Amino acid sequence: MFGLIDHVGVAVKDLDAAIQLYETTLGMPLVHRETVEEQGVEAVLLDVGPCHVELLRPLGEKTPVGKFLTRKGPGLHHVAYRVEDIEAALAELKARDVELIDAEPRTGIRGSRVAFLHPRATDGVLTEIVEPAEDH
Ligand code: CO
Repeated sequence: MFGLIDHVGVAVKDLDAAIQLYETTLGMPLVHRETVEEQGVEAVLLDVGPCHVELLRPLGEKTPVGKFLTRKGPGLHHVAYRVEDIEAALAELKARDVELIDAEPRTGIRGSRVAFLHPRATDGVLTEIVEPAEDH
């Protein structure tokens, strides 16, 4: 079902400082920056081979990532697996009784379609599945 790890999501308080670390110090090319209103974040993608690091700055304290930062502080937020067909993947997960946060796909970064599995179903790891836009 899962093609590869598409990205790991990292919650940050200061996006520019995080970019300084990942792009300049660690040398990962920054390939995309976008405000994703639907997820309440400003996000950037940095390339790591065919995969990415996704840095997430919450747009407010009441957003999911904002609440995460308040509760746990900056750090690893989620793991995202790439799928070819997100509807098929969601149907398969439902058939396997995996608890979902998103029963239907929603808009992700860079035109992707994404859905989250509930961390209760995945040993505490917030898990995302992502179908990239066709040109990525
Ligand atoms: Co993500």
